[in-house]
Amino acid sequence: MAATLLARGGGAAARALTFGCLRQLHTVYQTVELPETHQMLCQTCRDFAEKELVPIAAQLDKEHRFPAEQVKKMGALGLLAIDVPEEYKGAGLDYLAYSIAVEEISRGCASTGVVMSVNNSLYLGPILKFGSEEQKHQWIAPFTSGDKIGCFALSEPGNGSDAGAASTVARLDGNEWVLNGTKAWITNAWDASAVVVFATTDKSQKHKGISAFLVPMPTPGLSLGKKEDKLGIRASSTANLIFEDCRIPKANLLGQQGMGFKIAMQTLDSGRIGIASQALGIARGALDCAVDYAEKRLAFGSPISKLQAIQFKLADMALALEGARLLTWRAAMLKDNGKPYTKEAAMAKLAASEAATAISHQAIQILGGMGYVTEMPAERHYRDARITEIYEGTSEIQRLVIAGQLLKEYRG
Ligand code: CAA
Repeated sequence: MAATLLARGGGAAARALTFGCLRQLHTVYQTVELPETHQMLCQTCRDFAEKELVPIAAQLDKEHRFPAEQVKKMGALGLLAIDVPEEYKGAGLDYLAYSIAVEEISRGCASTGVVMSVNNSLYLGPILKFGSEEQKHQWIAPFTSGDKIGCFALSEPGNGSDAGAASTVARLDGNEWVLNGTKAWITNAWDASAVVVFATTDKSQKHKGISAFLVPMPTPGLSLGKKEDKLGIRASSTANLIFEDCRIPKANLLGQQGMGFKIAMQTLDSGRIGIASQALGIARGALDCAVDYAEKRLAFGSPISKLQAIQFKLADMALALEGARLLTWRAAMLKDNGKPYTKEAAMAKLAASEAATAISHQAIQILGGMGYVTEMPAERHYRDARITEIYEGTSEIQRLVIAGQLLKEYRG
């Protein structure tokens, strides 16, 4: 599958885009020398996003429509299982590659970006890391092609940030686990064919009593809540998962019993790199839009890009974006090198999500009235950016994680 990606890249690493409605940076990345594979992947994703996503993103958003056809094409390109080894039908690349790809796809359509990120990081990630050989073959390979996607169910109506307070229960009955409870805010819920779900097998043990399970969708005893009507990322589905005496085979336990909280935390460390990358893509879409407009819009006899008031904004936007990207790539590279990266992933997610909200806010300011209407993508970037400060751990949780790790480092 890596070969598919590379063939599509065609070695056109630094080729300027010749199509697209908005001006964007002409070289792939100007400041850091990326390996050739990553440059080719970047160009492939950039071309795909420009051709397949940019023209339809507004319509998908308006209609709350899942981009099924585009997701299938992304599967064929290897984008739904980027760091999954080829033996399980993945692209066999690394997390830096994944970050680059999510940014490019999210620049075209942030909803498609989160669909991709959840499948890669939150669904396939924990199975790859904690699954048995048999589970990997059963639950990974069919989810790499875009025909099926997965989801991840940790939050509940009564607990989001306090992930250890899970009240969904799993009881062993003979050769089956029986699940009861409700999971909330589940990205991809309506479109998924399987879920990694967290439930407590021993309430008295608090977070140490949580376990992770693999559940096929649909399955008897599992129903979907209403599709949430959201501010942004409206082409991705979000809904509750309701478990009522939902029976799954005993073999569907992922990892050891009681290991669920650690599986969730480690999965979210990786997932936060994905959401940071999604935020970078949204931020870049907003900056591209603002630059394009500032160069064309005339006021006081010349393009507004000549005004210092506008230039100061553009400079701050570019600074926030590029700083956040460096943090994101650092976290990805630490992961790729087998080093601890909990703090760095939280820093990346915090910096990139706050950059995305600030940049998309300023983009609207530069566009003025045109930023406030749906004719231009600026208002969608602004709506899409907001969730990146909420899901996979709010900005407040990222600060807690960073401070916790920092204090640990100081105390030795
Ligand atoms: N890696 C490995 N282990 C970890 C860990 C990590 N990153 N973080 C914590 N742990 C371990 C600790 O070492 C500790 O282990 P022991 O019990 O063996 O000592 C255990 O987990 C408990 O740790 P804490 O006491 O720090 O746990 P806590 O209850 O205080 O919670 C928290 C910590 C950081 C606040 C955590 O609950 C958290 O991350 N909350 C946010 C949840 C979240 O991000 N939800 C996102 C939902 S998914 C989603 O949003 C998907 C989507 O839609 C796209």
